[in-house]
Amino acid sequence: MTVNLDQLRRCHVAVDLGAARTRVYVKGAGLVVDEPSAAAVNTRTGALIAVGAFAEQMTGRTPSYIRVVRPVSGGTVVDIDMAQRMLRGLIGEKLRRNLRRKPRLRAAACTPYEADPLAQRAAVETLVGLGARRVELVDTLIAAAVGCGLPVELPEATMIMVCGAATTQVAVLSLGSIVTAERIPVGGDAIDHAIVQHLRHHHELMLPSQSVRPLQIALSGNGLTPYGPSTTEIHGRDVATGLARSVQVDTAAVRDAIHPPLTAVLDGIGKVLRDCPPDLVADLADRGIMMVGGSALLPGLDQMLRDATGMPVTIAERPEVCAILGLGAMLEGRVRPLVLDQLAG
Ligand SMILES: Nc1ncnc2c1ncn2[C@@H]1O[C@H](COP(=O)(O)OP(=O)(O)OP(=O)(O)O)[C@@H](O)[C@H]1O
Ligand SMILES: [Mg+2]
Repeated sequence: MTVNLDQLRRCHVAVDLGAARTRVYVKGAGLVVDEPSAAAVNTRTGALIAVGAFAEQMTGRTPSYIRVVRPVSGGTVVDIDMAQRMLRGLIGEKLRRNLRRKPRLRAAACTPYEADPLAQRAAVETLVGLGARRVELVDTLIAAAVGCGLPVELPEATMIMVCGAATTQVAVLSLGSIVTAERIPVGGDAIDHAIVQHLRHHHELMLPSQSVRPLQIALSGNGLTPYGPSTTEIHGRDVATGLARSVQVDTAAVRDAIHPPLTAVLDGIGKVLRDCPPDLVADLADRGIMMVGGSALLPGLDQMLRDATGMPVTIAERPEVCAILGLGAMLEGRVRPLVLDQLAG
């Protein structure tokens, strides 16, 4: 996918529809929406009850006639109609009116690396339904690299790892484009799931999905490395009795439980490095890997990667918003001129 910066500069709004969060950047206004990709619907009437954070809070707490749905799954819009309704709700009436005033509204959207044509079409359709006359698609890897300030325009290799909720994408970039990349269908959600399953199987404890984060923090600062505390106390609900109970969880066992998803990610990194021309691999040895995406904040993930690859690993500043801010920088024309030439070419 080639990025045309001239066309991007004409866009008014940029959207990153993620499996976990939806982000919207409006030219001149900045990042205006950063909310969970969730909508609560009344199944009797079909009415939309809530979107974003409020809808997510309802998860697992609704009466049977209210369903919390997630229109984006695995990085792809799976329910176009619901995604449009959710976006309308998130953007709000005032901003929508402002955007409607544009005679030819142009929008930009991130798509995962190697998104199939159907997935790309779903992203475009979603925005066309919201009034966009033209939609530019940009690879998330490029947007995120620009957003975290990597010198993508130089003839030097940079390695980026986008750790999302549903997917992890790894790429080596040089001269503004992707040299080699991999998309691994494993992300923060798979790691959370592995932790929940571990507690269920080994401690007969049900952990509400909202409590996984405190557990990760309890495991930190070196949660994924062998240096953290050896046990930690976790509160949950007994699977059999349904009563509240707390257990001492062995952190080493939790580390083992999340090993399979992490191995898949490491395999992906290995493949990208193997496919990369040797000259570029030499650059990477000094510069290392830049981690972006919400799951880059997983305690200890950076240290684990350092140990496994022997390369320097850096977490971007505000990793979760790098992709949308990179897209925003392209809209505002704030991307360095050399990048502009290279990317447009
Ligand atoms: N502080 C944190 N510690 C651990 N995990 C975190 C933290 N903050 C966010 N996450 C995880 O990051 C993920 C969300 O990241 P992000 O917002 O990049 O996803 P997304 O863009 O919606 O997903 P995708 O790109 O896969 O479609 C979730 O799985 C969430 O659990
Ligand atoms: Mg994302």
